[in-house]
Amino acid sequence: MAELRLLAWPAGHSLSPVMHTAALKELGLTHTYRAVAVPPEKLQGAVNGLRSAGVLGANVTVPHKERIMPLLDSVSDAARKVGAVNTVTNSDGRLHGDNTDVHGFLALLESAGVRLAGDGGLSVVVLGAGGAARAAVYGLAGHARLTVINRTVARAEALAAAFPQVEAVAPAASEELLEEADVLVNTTSVGMELEGRDPDESPLPPGVLPARAVVVDMVYRPERTRLLRDAATAGLPAFGGLEMLVQQGAASLRLWTGLADVPVSAMRSAARAALSGD
Ligand code: ATR
Repeated sequence: MAELRLLAWPAGHSLSPVMHTAALKELGLTHTYRAVAVPPEKLQGAVNGLRSAGVLGANVTVPHKERIMPLLDSVSDAARKVGAVNTVTNSDGRLHGDNTDVHGFLALLESAGVRLAGDGGLSVVVLGAGGAARAAVYGLAGHARLTVINRTVARAEALAAAFPQVEAVAPAASEELLEEADVLVNTTSVGMELEGRDPDESPLPPGVLPARAVVVDMVYRPERTRLLRDAATAGLPAFGGLEMLVQQGAASLRLWTGLADVPVSAMRSAARAALSGD
């Protein structure tokens, strides 16, 4: 029996344990997957714990995704460029970090029917400039025309400096840009069910929506955010972040087990059931 862990702080809210436990059961594996509450000052110890022979690897989430990087033996190019690790694999005590959010995001776009071409092709507008936006931009660079809009313009500019394919635009210019957009992606936390936050908020100003874009929201809790509901009311195709969560998890499971085929539909059903039972 082998162990998989999720390093998080706090550890209570994640859907990953439910999703991975369903997948492991479906695969007939006796591995366990459990969330471990790791306060920031205990991260080094928790990382060392992953080197044990019985541990296959771990997922990493808020607030450790960036800080874990220097504690690992190696990281993938994607994780380095995104600046965040969400998956760690243990091979004989050596820890390798990866970022499967990029795969999860591209799989979400594919499920939304978005067909990427070259960088002269689709115009994609990304709302937000944090770690989630970096994963989106890394996945899309070279495959679309990319514009980033963020409340704090300096952060959008920093993202554009790291990715030359990206243009940073101030929120004030968003309306005009959205007329032309083929895809709109929300990577901000606006609309997320969070303590002390209004979940009925949209990251777009009132009355502003793209003219014809596919709207994708990385937020999955709630499953239908205000942005998605507004988009659907306006007749736009609208997709939430649950598929990204499922697909990043499936990609992590492939890395840990070496299996090409993992039970994605069991993971999706388990995540959706847990979400609606919240
Ligand atoms: P993550 O790694 O999940 O992307 P993050 O780095 O904290 O998280 O980034 C959160 C994103 O949501 C940022 O783009 C943030 O905008 P700022 O850079 O201006 O902080 C955005 N965000 C969070 N709350 C917001 C709000 N109320 N209005 C607009 N943008 C918001």
